[in-house]
Amino acid sequence: MNFKAEINRRRTFGIISHPDAGKTTLTEKLLLFGGAIQEAGAVKSNKIKKGATSDFMEIERQRGISVATSVLAFEYKDIKINILDTPGHKDFAEDTFRTLTAVDSAIVVIDVAKGVEEQTEKLVEVCRMRNIPMIVFINKLDREGKDAFDLLDEVEQKLGLRVTPLSFPIGMGYDFKGIYNIWEHNVNLFTGNSKQHINDTIEISDLTSSKLDELVGENGAQTLREEIELVKGIYPEFKKDEYLDGHLQPVFFGSALNNFGVRELLDCFIEIAPKPRPKQSEERLVHPDEDKFTGFVFKIHANMDPNHRNRLAFVKIVSGEFKRNTPYLHVRHNKNLKFSSPNAFFAEKKEIVDVSFPGDIVGLQDSGNFKIGDTLTEGEIINYKGVPSFSPEHFRYINNADPLKSKQLNKGIDQLMDEGVAQLFTLDYNGRKVIGTVGALQYEVIQYRLEHEYGAKCTYENLNVHKACWVETKDEKSEEYKDFLRVKQRFLARDKQNQLVFLADSMFSLQMTQQKYPSIIFHMSSEF
Ligand code: G4P
Repeated sequence: MNFKAEINRRRTFGIISHPDAGKTTLTEKLLLFGGAIQEAGAVKSNKIKKGATSDFMEIERQRGISVATSVLAFEYKDIKINILDTPGHKDFAEDTFRTLTAVDSAIVVIDVAKGVEEQTEKLVEVCRMRNIPMIVFINKLDREGKDAFDLLDEVEQKLGLRVTPLSFPIGMGYDFKGIYNIWEHNVNLFTGNSKQHINDTIEISDLTSSKLDELVGENGAQTLREEIELVKGIYPEFKKDEYLDGHLQPVFFGSALNNFGVRELLDCFIEIAPKPRPKQSEERLVHPDEDKFTGFVFKIHANMDPNHRNRLAFVKIVSGEFKRNTPYLHVRHNKNLKFSSPNAFFAEKKEIVDVSFPGDIVGLQDSGNFKIGDTLTEGEIINYKGVPSFSPEHFRYINNADPLKSKQLNKGIDQLMDEGVAQLFTLDYNGRKVIGTVGALQYEVIQYRLEHEYGAKCTYENLNVHKACWVETKDEKSEEYKDFLRVKQRFLARDKQNQLVFLADSMFSLQMTQQKYPSIIFHMSSEF
C-alpha cells in the first residue's frame, strides 16, 4: 500500500468521559468489533478505585495497566484505528489534556441518567478550544435515564456544543425497544441479551411503513415518528464539513455494556472521522503527507521494572514515515538519536516495528532524553505547539529528607516533572522548590516513586497558593513591571522552562494584582 493510502486509512482518537460513564466498556466493545480481542472483560480498567489514595499497590497496578492500554490499535473494514487512552480520574486530568494534543478526533461518552458531569465539561472544553471533531455517545440506555430531548439540551448548554442526533432511542430503561438509526435509516431492536454481538438491523427506509408498528408496537411507532419529526425540525442537518471543523457534533444513543448501538457508532465513525490532520508548529503548518518524518512526544511512561530505569516516550507521528534505526533530530537538544526497537501498539500488546505512518503512535525507549512536547524531525527545526501546562490546583514545598541523597532527589524530581507527573516551580527569592499538582494523589505518587525508583526521600510542607499564573508583559522596562517584580517578589517563581510565574495566594489577591498592574497579563496556562 502506498504512503498516501496508509495515511488515509488511519483514524486516531480518544474517548473522553466522566469516570463510570462507560469509557472502558465502550473501548472494549470497539475492540471486539475489530476482532482485536475475543471476549468481554479483556480490557482492564485503569481506574483508581475509590479509597485507594494511599494504596501504593493500587497505584502501581494502575500504572502497569495504563502502559498496556495507552494506545489500543485495531483494524476494522480496512481502517487502522488507534484509540488513545485518557485517564478519567480527575487527579490525572493533565495526562488527558496532553493526550488530547495527539488525537485527531474524540468520542464523548455520557451516562444517560447522570447527564453531563464535571469531568466531561472540562475535557470537552479542551476539545472545543482546539476544534477537535467530536461525536457524542449517550450510554446506558438499558437503564432509566433522562428524556432524550432534555439530555440533548443539556449537552448543548453545558458543553457548548451544537448537536444533531444521528440515532434516536425507542423507549428507555425498562421500556427500551431499540434505536432508530437516522444516519442509515434503519431500526435496530434491543433484545437485552448481553452476549449480543452484531445486531440484525431491519431496514425501515420509510418511517410511515407499517413494519415499524409491527416491530415496536403502535404506540412506540407513533411516538418515534413524532420524535423524529421533532428532531428534523429542531436540529441542523448533519454536514460532515461542519463536524470536521468542530462546529457540529453528531449524537448516538446506545448501551455499551449490551453492545448495542456500538456498531452504528463505529460504522459512522470510520466514515466521517478525520484522517490524520495537519499540525501547527511554531515555524509552520506541517502536513501528514510530507515526505519527511516529524513527530512529538505527548506522554512519557516510566518503566515498571526497577532494574531497567528506561522510560517509554510516546511519539505521535505527524508527517512522513518513522523508520527503525534511522537517525532523527531531537530538536530541543540539537542531537541525533536512533531507535533500534520502536514499539507499535496493538490491541493490548506492543511489538517492534520497522515503519510507522502519520496518525500512528510509536513508543521509544528513553534513558532521560525526552520531555513532554519534544519534537523529532529529519533535520528541520520544528517545534510543535500545544502541550501547555495549566495552573495546578495544589501546591506544596518539597524538602529533602535525606541530605546524603540530594543528587538522587534532584534527578528524580527532574525526571518525574519531564514525565508530566506534576509541575515544579522554584521561588525566585529563596530558591525553594514548590510542587504543583492537579490532585492530592500525585504527592503520594511522587513520594513513593522518589523512594522506590531513585532512592530519595522527601517531605512536604504546606504552602498557601490559589493559582499559578504565567506572567506576560509587553515592556519589561516599564515602571509598572518593575514595581510588580519588587512588590510581589515573595510570590514569584520560575517554571521548568524558566518562565516567570506569579503564585497568587487567593482569588482576591489575584484580582487586586490584576487591577493594580493592568499592563501585565496573567495567564492560566503556560502557552500564550
Ligand atoms: P469508565 O471507564 O468510563 O469509568 O466506565 P466503565 O466502562 O468502567 O463502566 C462503569 C460501570 O458502568 C461499569 O459497572 C459498567 O459495567 C457499567 N456500564 C457500562 N456501560 C453500561 C451500559 O450500557 N448499561 C449499564 N447498565 N451499565 C453499563 P461497574 O459495576 O462499576 O463495574 P463492573 O464491575 O461491571 O466492571
